[in-house]
Amino acid sequence: MTHPQHLILTGDRPTGPLHLGHYVGSLRQRVELQTKHPQFILIADLQGLTDNGSQPEKIANNVLEVMADYLAVGIDPQQTTICLQSALPALAELTMLYMNIVTVSRVERNPTVKNEIQQKGFSRSLPTGFLVYPISQAADITAFGADLVPVGDDQLPMIEQTNEIVHKMNGLLKTPVLRHCKALLSTTGRLPGIDGSAKMSKSLGNTLTLSASEQEIHQAVSAMYTDPQHLRVSDPGNIEGNVVFTYLDAFHPDSEKVAAMKEHYQRGGLGDRQCKNELEACLQTLVAPIRERRQQLIADKEMLMGLLKHGSEKAHLHTQKTLHAIKRGLGLPVMF
Ligand code: TRP
Repeated sequence: MTHPQHLILTGDRPTGPLHLGHYVGSLRQRVELQTKHPQFILIADLQGLTDNGSQPEKIANNVLEVMADYLAVGIDPQQTTICLQSALPALAELTMLYMNIVTVSRVERNPTVKNEIQQKGFSRSLPTGFLVYPISQAADITAFGADLVPVGDDQLPMIEQTNEIVHKMNGLLKTPVLRHCKALLSTTGRLPGIDGSAKMSKSLGNTLTLSASEQEIHQAVSAMYTDPQHLRVSDPGNIEGNVVFTYLDAFHPDSEKVAAMKEHYQRGGLGDRQCKNELEACLQTLVAPIRERRQQLIADKEMLMGLLKHGSEKAHLHTQKTLHAIKRGLGLPVMF
């Protein structure tokens, strides 16, 4: 198959509305990337079901929430094709085909999946679909022919596993069909939770969503973890592990100002309150327009569904081509 120069695929599980961690880790980057390369974004509802099999409504209810988040931050459906995983049968069919060339021991070795299985306490109740979701993700990536995949570093094992599948599958075909891919890691690291824990995560209750109210932002910043040893304003303070500074680095538009604040804080004489005021102002400025746009968007579900359907149609035609090429390569009849 011939491929365009670069093609981007990224995606999210629709398990809840997106938060500021998503914003700095990926959404912001996608808004930029959409002007540079063809970009597809997959709302990965099937992957969301792999650990929510008994509460499908949780996934179903969040599909349009995530769609609204995308549009509210500036992802432009004219430039980015937003589509729904469950609407694309080629992805499921490719998953079935790939499962035959990946061993059980290989899926059990994926470090991200291993971690998640432990965290979620699955042990004997591990859903089969969850164990094999990296294979399904490989199907997502390869079906689109994506060579650039913007993801967090926890997703690197998925990219590695995808490239193994590409290599194996292409080896079975007379002419290679699948394209190798690489991760596009975000330049800002993972945003810690507002409580200072390693990750902003809905299940830990330490997030700020993209529709956080003024009051929620105020409270979150007020409660934010700083340097517990920094008792008096005149004391020298520590910026390592100080969430306020991590957030200022991630969100403040003026990095020189942040550098000067850090220097002042470490020297002593800059209070936590002042730093927090500066951070709150910049978060309020960032979130207010997103929150407003989001409110308008979510009020028109029909419009959101229409856009998602339109993107999914385009993605369906695109991914079907890869499935057909694979089927032909394997000698399976292509009937429809
Ligand atoms: N696993 C990704 C996550 O949890 C979501 C995802 C599904 C994805 N399919 C994808 C990301 C394809 C990139 C490409 O964030």
